[in-house]
Amino acid sequence: MTATIIDGKAFAAKVRAEVAEHVARLKEERGLVPGLAVVLVGENPASQVYVKSKGKQTVEVGMASFEHKLDRDTSEADLLALIDRLNADPAVHGILVQLPLPSHLNSELVINRIDPAKDVDGFHISNVGLLGTGQKSMVPCTPLGCLMMLRDHHGKLAGMEAVVVGRSNIVGKPMAQLLLGDSCTVTIAHSRTKDLGEVCRRADILVAAVGRPEMIPGDWVKPGATVIDVGINRIERDGKQVLVGDVDYAGAAKVAGAITPVPGGVGPMTIACLLANTLTACCRANGLPEPEGLTA
Ligand code: GUN
Repeated sequence: MTATIIDGKAFAAKVRAEVAEHVARLKEERGLVPGLAVVLVGENPASQVYVKSKGKQTVEVGMASFEHKLDRDTSEADLLALIDRLNADPAVHGILVQLPLPSHLNSELVINRIDPAKDVDGFHISNVGLLGTGQKSMVPCTPLGCLMMLRDHHGKLAGMEAVVVGRSNIVGKPMAQLLLGDSCTVTIAHSRTKDLGEVCRRADILVAAVGRPEMIPGDWVKPGATVIDVGINRIERDGKQVLVGDVDYAGAAKVAGAITPVPGGVGPMTIACLLANTLTACCRANGLPEPEGLTA
């Protein structure tokens, strides 16, 4: 068997086009422009690349982008004051504080200062609680993107056996909640799980989010399973820098029914879902119906 490749790049382009259509309609019919504020503290090179890309794509779908670049040694009080101003600004519907923050800043305190209704990352403790109890929330972008791809590929997910490898607050835990919300039977496994291979082989849906290059070999994949590889790991191979996922792609693609490649799988969906969340936040703030197919 050779797996169907789930093309995240194409899917993300489709999501962005849908968001852009909604944004154009909001502008025309209501004079509303969804706005996303991105806050970057310091000069982490990877963060700078992400923030630039977020700003560019925000403008491309017709939204307003507000970038706040602060010095590395910005005080916690100044950062919290900025968040307070953004919380109060009616032109700002979504706020994202790029992580990691410099070590003198308390990330939890900072994230929990964001108005939960504007927390387009879905990291605020209120949103985590709402998702965990199956209530309407803002959902973290990467797991939301994975869910969209799975629903698109399978239709209904009810009754499927899902294994999530990885227990981070950003991906593993919310991913498991979302799959549970779609009535999958969900296992959260991790690097300390006993007989991890056996556990993975149970999965109809295998989501890998451990951040270890090619940790999951092809023979851990059940024949016909859908593999969602969240990992983006830079390694050296044959003297060249390459990006690989958490799954051995070549091995898994021989066994799986469908698989996301790295790059071009889950990666592009994250920013597309950030834009979808900003649109959702804008609709909610204005008492309008939420965009269909762009939420959990
Ligand atoms: N840093 C790496 N990924 C993310 C993300 O999804 N959101 C934020 N705020 N920071 C990140």
